[in-house]
Amino acid sequence: MHELKTKIEDTIKFIKDELKEVPKIDIAIILGTGLGNLAEKIKDKRGIEYWKIPNFPVSTVKGHKGELVFGKIGDKNVVAMEGRFHYYEGYPLDQVTYPVRVVKALGAKILVVSNAAGGMNPGYKPGDLMVIADHINFTGVNPLIGPNDESLGPRFPDFCDLYDPKLIALAEEIAKEEKIRMHKGIYIGVTGPNLETRAEYKFFQMIGADAVGMSTVPEVVVARHAGLRIFGISVITDVCLPETLKPCNIDEIIKTANEAEPKLTKLIHTLIERI
Ligand code: HPA
Repeated sequence: MHELKTKIEDTIKFIKDELKEVPKIDIAIILGTGLGNLAEKIKDKRGIEYWKIPNFPVSTVKGHKGELVFGKIGDKNVVAMEGRFHYYEGYPLDQVTYPVRVVKALGAKILVVSNAAGGMNPGYKPGDLMVIADHINFTGVNPLIGPNDESLGPRFPDFCDLYDPKLIALAEEIAKEEKIRMHKGIYIGVTGPNLETRAEYKFFQMIGADAVGMSTVPEVVVARHAGLRIFGISVITDVCLPETLKPCNIDEIIKTANEAEPKLTKLIHTLIERI
């Protein structure tokens, strides 16, 4: 049980040595598939590649880079994870969520998480943004299963208002000002790696989900356990309406995510400046 804490301490020590100072972090950002460019906007940037960091998994997915980037957005100290780990890659969930434990130990108070997701709400179009109002964990697993280290978080964390209502309201205000088309909806997290069947999309619509994706849920579960405020946003990369479903491929998903990137970057950048 204390093994995780020791691992985190080793990782933090390496990061401090590598940066030659104790980084002050206010906000941690996880950049999803095709959404890595936000890291370009970080000032006074210093990056550490994942493979160098002790106890860090290494990212294997197309469209994900694999670097921890430290720096500033406005007056906030941030760390961005350029590239994330997915359960479908074969990493156990404690590894998928390990970076969240690390950023918490570095002092982060807020986690901003982005992803590419399939839209099941008939009002959504490819390239739209959806601020995550809430999620459904449909992965069938949970990163908190196992002995609980009370010093990292409670055994039975409360998940009411999991996604911070104040941050959602702030994002809605910014989207309106910037004339960015943004919905507010429910994200359903699955393991992947296959895209869903028509019957699954239909079922997900019926149980109240607006968008589906293969990430975010494990990291958010651990972030809440660790006491972080959470802001989540999806880029709708493909439309998944059961009646009119067409085959979709990952290259198209990445292309749509890349095209929507500037508005996502604008939104997150402004949000962080104004927090
Ligand atoms: N399912 C369907 N479409 C998607 C997904 C998904 O998990 N992620 C991005 N587009």
